[in-house]
Amino acid sequence: MHASTLLLSALAAFAVAAPTYPQLNVDAVTPAGLDALSDYFNKLAQKVQQSKSLAEAPACDLTKAVLPRQPPSPSSLPDPTKGLVLKHVAIGRGTQNYTCANDTAAPVLAGAVAALYNASCLAAAQPELMGPLAQASLAAGLALRPGETPLTVTARLAPSQLVVSGRHFFRDPTTPFFDLDAQPADQIGTAPTAKNNTEPAPAGAPRGQKGEAAVPWLKLLAKEGATGDLREVYRVETVGGSAPPSCKDMPASFEVQYAAQYWFYEGKPQEQQQS
Ligand SMILES: *[C@@H]1O[C@H](CO)[C@@H](O)[C@H](O)[C@H]1NC(C)=O
Ligand SMILES: *[C@@H]1O[C@H](CO)[C@@H](O)[C@H](O)[C@H]1NC(C)=O
Ligand SMILES: *[C@@H]1O[C@H](CO)[C@@H](O)[C@H](O)[C@H]1NC(C)=O
Ligand SMILES: *[C@@H]1O[C@H](CO)[C@@H](O)[C@H](O)[C@H]1NC(C)=O
Repeated sequence: MHASTLLLSALAAFAVAAPTYPQLNVDAVTPAGLDALSDYFNKLAQKVQQSKSLAEAPACDLTKAVLPRQPPSPSSLPDPTKGLVLKHVAIGRGTQNYTCANDTAAPVLAGAVAALYNASCLAAAQPELMGPLAQASLAAGLALRPGETPLTVTARLAPSQLVVSGRHFFRDPTTPFFDLDAQPADQIGTAPTAKNNTEPAPAGAPRGQKGEAAVPWLKLLAKEGATGDLREVYRVETVGGSAPPSCKDMPASFEVQYAAQYWFYEGKPQEQQQS
C-alpha cells in the first residue's frame, strides 16, 4: 500500500482517539519523513485498537519503564547507579549546533538546544511508540510560532499530544543543562551535567532530515548545583543530529535537527544511603 494511504487511514483512527490534533507542517515532510509518520500512526492505530479491548486504561507507572539498551559491548553505557530511581522520561526535539573553522577542519559541536516533552507515561505504558514518535517528530518539524525557539516553544510535540516538560541547552561548552521545571504543577528539578560515557548509536539507527547519522547515546552525571535530587541522565534512541565528517562547503556555524529520548534518574547512590 502507498505510504500516504496508510497515513490517511491511520490519521482517521487517531482523530477518533484524540480530537485536538496538533499542528503538522505537512509541506515540509520529505518522502522518508512520510514513512516515519505513517509508521508512527500505524503503530498508534494498533495500540488504540488494542486498548479498546483492555478492561482498564494502561497505568502510568514509571517503575514499569525500561531504559533502552544496546547489546552488551565494551562501549556499552553503564547501568544507572544502584539506588537511583527513574524520575522522568522526555522526548527531546531540537538541534545540535556545530562550528567550522575552515574547509579542511572537522565540525566541532557547539552545544545543543531542545524542547523536552513529557513522555513518562508513554515510556511506561506504550514503549513501542517511543521510537516511532521520535522519528515522526523529526519528520514533522517543530511547530514553532513566529519568534519561538525550541527553548520557548509551548505547542505539543507534533504529531502527538505530548506537552513540554522542560528545556535542554548548554550552559557552557562542556555543561549540558536540563531544566525540568516547565510545568508549575510538577517541577522535576534542574541539572547541570557532565558527560560520563558515550556509546555510538546502533548501525541501523534512524537518520535525520537530510540523512545525518544518529548522534551517540550518552550517560551524563549531574554536577554540583542540581536540584530535585537529579543524579543521572541518559540520552538514548537518538535520531539524526550528526555533523558531516568534514567542513567542506559548510558555513562557520550550522545546526542539525535531532530527536532523542532523555531518561532522568533521582536519589542517592547506595553507598551514601547507608549512613
Ligand atoms: C583549519 O582549522 C583547523 C582547526 O581550527 C586548524 O588546525 C587548521 O590549521 C586550519 N587550517 C587552515 C588552512 O587554516
Ligand atoms: C544553537 O542554535 C540555536 C538556534 O539558532 C541558537 O538559538 C543557539 O543559541 C545555538 N546554541 C549554541 C550553543 O550555539
Ligand atoms: C507528565 O505527565 C504525567 C501524566 O499526565 C503527569 O502526571 C506528570 O506530572 C507530568 N510530568 C511533568 C514533569 O510534566
Ligand atoms: C563515570 O562515572 C562513574 C561513577 O558513576 C565513575 O566511576 C567513572 O570514573 C566515570 N567515568 C568518567 C569517564 O567520567
